[in-house]
Amino acid sequence: MHTDDTLDALFPAHVAALVDRTARALEATGTSALVIGSGFLHYRFLDDHSYPFTTNPHFREWVPADDAPGSFLVIRPGARPVLVFHQPEDYWHKPPAAPSGRWTACFDVVLVREPRDAREHVPAGAAFIGERFNGMDDWGFGAVNPQPLMDRLHWDRAAKTPYELACMRRASAAGVRGHRAAVAAFRAGASEYEIHLAYLAACGHTEAGLPYPNIIALNEGAAILHYTDVQHTKPAARHSMLIDAGAQFRGYACDITRTHAARDGAFAELIAGMDALELALCAMVRPGVHYPEIHLAAHRLIGELLVSQGIILCSAEAALETGLTSVFFPHGIGHLLGLQVHDIGGHQAAASGGTMPPPAGHPFLRLTRTLEPGTVVTIEPGLYFIDLLLAKARADGRGRNIDWAKVAELAPYGGVRIEDDVVATSAGPENLTRDAFAASAA
Ligand code: GLY
Ligand code: MN
Ligand code: MN
Repeated sequence: MHTDDTLDALFPAHVAALVDRTARALEATGTSALVIGSGFLHYRFLDDHSYPFTTNPHFREWVPADDAPGSFLVIRPGARPVLVFHQPEDYWHKPPAAPSGRWTACFDVVLVREPRDAREHVPAGAAFIGERFNGMDDWGFGAVNPQPLMDRLHWDRAAKTPYELACMRRASAAGVRGHRAAVAAFRAGASEYEIHLAYLAACGHTEAGLPYPNIIALNEGAAILHYTDVQHTKPAARHSMLIDAGAQFRGYACDITRTHAARDGAFAELIAGMDALELALCAMVRPGVHYPEIHLAAHRLIGELLVSQGIILCSAEAALETGLTSVFFPHGIGHLLGLQVHDIGGHQAAASGGTMPPPAGHPFLRLTRTLEPGTVVTIEPGLYFIDLLLAKARADGRGRNIDWAKVAELAPYGGVRIEDDVVATSAGPENLTRDAFAASAA
């Protein structure tokens, strides 16, 4: 079966799951109906150019159409969902195409020329989820972005439907095409900017279509966790490339990081060590696992790597206890992934809401939940030479256990991060990223 046929075949069950989840959430919160807004274009200050449109992820979850600002979805328990699709009359810009394809059979589709024309399709007292808009006070909404309702929908979103997983496999394949082109450009001596262009061309995205801004860093730039300042100039010496770049398919993201060394040696060994420990962590992605356990395991394994590479002088346990591993690994092991790169609900305690904060000393861990079948997470251990954090360690005494000569040798390489996207299934982890790399090598 052609892959688009596969997606079409999976989509009705996806919508049925959303209908079911939404009905339960509405009932639990005493809400009669739900209206979801896609969002609106926003304009630059004193300008008639808009920022790139980003669809409300609640809308995107239901509607696989790109770029539908000013549209609404109306969900009433027991009725077919109604897609009120905004298609303006406009000869300055290309209006969004009217919904077409087999997926539209899951909805009653109504075309409107103005967003305000959707008003007549809104049931009185419905809850609204989306960004606020002018005039909405007259639409009769019973509540706007009610937290108890959103909590239930966010909670359910962590476990993906088969359709969503199929979309994420497609996104992974596109991201891998970009990564393969990027590493070829790196090996050919390209600048960060040229590598960025090679990435975009291979995965077929515009910059605005990326799920997050590309992080493409040569040399010490790899020590800046969210480095997006791609340079046109080529560095005099080429040591390393860290590329954290994703792609999306029907709104579902992949989030992939690879680090490449320009030559064999200590940094290439560090990458190999990180790759091995990253795979060990991916193997922990199973239903029933409390995600912070994976984060703490990452600290232990990175501590061992720091010892074996001669970067620190104490034991891995001592490094974890004193916070020395956090000098080199100062971010969380990963996060929920889906419609948003950092998908919402990572700290949620239950479907009914509440917060589970990260463990003490690990404030940047974005996910504290227990994995379920279908939960998709990233696993992204890293080890960096960050001046700011190294200076703090030197000042507070942790630096006694750092081999500064080794740090000086490795600092020009910036750092290493390896990131895969993994599904927890009862049959074991499904590594979307490694599978996509393996398929593209075949
Ligand atoms: N690309 C952002 C992240 O890995 O979380
Ligand atoms: Mn990530
Ligand atoms: Mn990433």
